[in-house]
Amino acid sequence: MVVVLAPAKINLFLQIIGDRPDGYHNLKMLMQSVSLADRLMISWGSSAGIEIECSDPQVPTDQDNLAYKAVVLLRQRFPEIADRGVRIVIDKQVPIAGGLAGGSGNGAAVLLAINTVCQLGLTQTELADLALELGSDVPFSLLGGRAIATGRGEQLTPVSNFPALHLVIAKPKDTAVSTAWAYQTFRAQRLIDRNPSNLAELWQNLLSGQSAETVASGLYNDLERVVLPQYPAIAELKQKLARQSLGALMSGSGACVFALCPDGDYAQQLAQSITSPVVEAWAVSTLDHGCRILEFTQSF
Ligand code: C5P
Repeated sequence: MVVVLAPAKINLFLQIIGDRPDGYHNLKMLMQSVSLADRLMISWGSSAGIEIECSDPQVPTDQDNLAYKAVVLLRQRFPEIADRGVRIVIDKQVPIAGGLAGGSGNGAAVLLAINTVCQLGLTQTELADLALELGSDVPFSLLGGRAIATGRGEQLTPVSNFPALHLVIAKPKDTAVSTAWAYQTFRAQRLIDRNPSNLAELWQNLLSGQSAETVASGLYNDLERVVLPQYPAIAELKQKLARQSLGALMSGSGACVFALCPDGDYAQQLAQSITSPVVEAWAVSTLDHGCRILEFTQSF
């Protein structure tokens, strides 16, 4: 059995640069791993199938799950593992449809685990290419830490010399945003033609990243422009968090919003005070790594 940690990510900056002929968008992002993480236990199954069990009943356990798709992709590439059954148990901590790459992290974790335990010999570049076949955020979920991401999100340049951050991540319960809808709406409304003029300045503030305050002065997400008007619960949560923190921003296409805090104790208190019957919240800190193998027993 192998146990893998799959951390969530947030986007400290997300600018849509332009349309692409393949239907995706070219992006400019600063992505950051955080300590909210799923744990996956992966072992050989008794039958030849792919069996997924998840602590969150809302998560699909069939071919729609990126962990399932990761096994299928590796089986296609490596016939020697094609008839081995795989059982994956997911301890789900990262909220689904939250803009935190929770599903992507599970796909990345399975690629990493099977490459390692089956000694498939895939290089980092080959793994990243397979990861991109699963989804735009999967290469970052594998690498993790903090990186500038361009292209679809797969061209990654690690960023060092950045302050450790304490944050609250919060989500209006029962709110889910479709990522495809958010990008399509941005494109249909031609919002790129009306981009704010200060984006280069915000980006510079962010990368000067000397303190949580400077990071807060560079936060930006283009998708807020389509998601916040359509989802008042997310907009209200952002406003509330912004009033009580150094700065707040929606992550990815939502529905999660994160808030930068002066320290860990403050983040704990804010997470507690913002939690309600309609809002769930977590105090987290930044991480310097992505998916990571925690345990590996030879009997796999
Ligand atoms: O790659 P992934 O399947 O995670 O993307 C989900 C959806 O988000 C895509 O179908 C696309 O509509 C949108 N997207 C995009 N440009 C990107 C990444 C995602 O338009 N760079």
